[in-house]
Amino acid sequence: MRPAIPSLLLALLPALSALADDGARLYAQNCAACHGERGSGGIGVPLALPSIRALTTEEYLRRSIRHGRPGRVMPAFASLSAAEVDAIVAHMGSWNPGRPAEYAETRIPGDLANGGKLFQKHCASCHGATGEGGKGTGVTLSRPREQTIMAPALHNAGFLASTTDLQIKAILTQGVTGTPMVSFVRKGLKEQDIDDLVAFVRNFEQSPLARPDAGKPAPEPVLSVESPYDLKTTVANLKRAAETNNFIFIREQTLDEGIVPPGRENHNQQIVYVCNFGLLAQALNTDPRVGLFLPCRFTILEQAGKVTMMASNPKRLSQIFNNSELDEMCEKLTKMYLTIMEDATL
Ligand code: HEC
Ligand code: HEC
Repeated sequence: MRPAIPSLLLALLPALSALADDGARLYAQNCAACHGERGSGGIGVPLALPSIRALTTEEYLRRSIRHGRPGRVMPAFASLSAAEVDAIVAHMGSWNPGRPAEYAETRIPGDLANGGKLFQKHCASCHGATGEGGKGTGVTLSRPREQTIMAPALHNAGFLASTTDLQIKAILTQGVTGTPMVSFVRKGLKEQDIDDLVAFVRNFEQSPLARPDAGKPAPEPVLSVESPYDLKTTVANLKRAAETNNFIFIREQTLDEGIVPPGRENHNQQIVYVCNFGLLAQALNTDPRVGLFLPCRFTILEQAGKVTMMASNPKRLSQIFNNSELDEMCEKLTKMYLTIMEDATL
């Protein structure tokens, strides 16, 4: 008689390897663009580091995928099924031989006042004064050498819902080898200080950080300003206004250039491209995805004798992303667009 167990295993093998394939595929589709093909990091932190594996539970990964990091670049993957999330977590486990960590959900009591003082002294320089997280994204060499990996947000509903007090304590005690996050025991903090810091970080749950635009109606998708001049004068004014406001003129074309045969373009519909390279560099550093809506572009239309200048509202575009820092920058950009268009009417 053939033993039952091996045949059962054989029957399961295709299903198991399909799941493994799924994990690799789902990771490639959903995560690799930011965290790197094999977790080496990029816009997102280098998840494959053995030290991160050793300090991280599978449940932390599952919850991080589900909740994301609201207001940061890391999205929430609410639409992945539980099996898909498990497959991704299993795939991430295949990068490292070590076992993932396990922590009980025990709460660590501590002195919040002392924790707060220590936080300002030892953590705020990287994680932000309110624990909102470092500026910019992922792994980059454009930051100071001790901050090549962005410090993640701690005062963040997604992080707090994913982590446990014992994980935070382990991270503070051991540090995350290979990242700027060092051991604070080695820096001279006592166990009680570490506990006070853990309690302070946990207490962020009591004062959630709101996104600046939370609860406000969506900004209008298009900014538009009417011009008192004819189209030609308006275009010339707009170019000058852009230059006065530190943008460089790039090019001008009709809205339908390349769409209709040459010579048949409608000259009552013009596009003006301008760029502020300093701002562009700053924006790309904040979130490389802004490349999608740059350079800056104005459309100038003449309809029934009325000339209107228009631009997509950066504040509206910024809402597609999940990044408070980008929101602030787009808010500034929106003001600049309006200033340029208003200057062009003078
Ligand atoms: C020199 C910059 C720096 C300082 C100072 C610093 N950290 Fe970090 N911290 C980091 C970086 C970078 C990471 C990301 C490592 C990783 O990807 O796990 C990190 C990770 C963490 C994590 C894990 C969070 C997560 O999402 O993975 C916690 C918790 C944390 N730090 C708490 C603290 C506390 C509390 C202090 C002060 C006692 C502190 N850190 C000081 C840079 C710093
Ligand atoms: C658009 C970019 C982006 C995508 C896509 C993305 N992440 Fe992230 N992820 C980040 C960033 C940036 C952080 C750091 C969070 C912060 O700034 O606070 C992060 C943080 C994390 C963390 C916490 C890291 C730590 O050290 O504790 C985990 C775990 C994680 N991501 C897993 C994933 C997985 C798995 C996927 C795919 C299902 C994914 N991420 C997709 C950008 C991304």
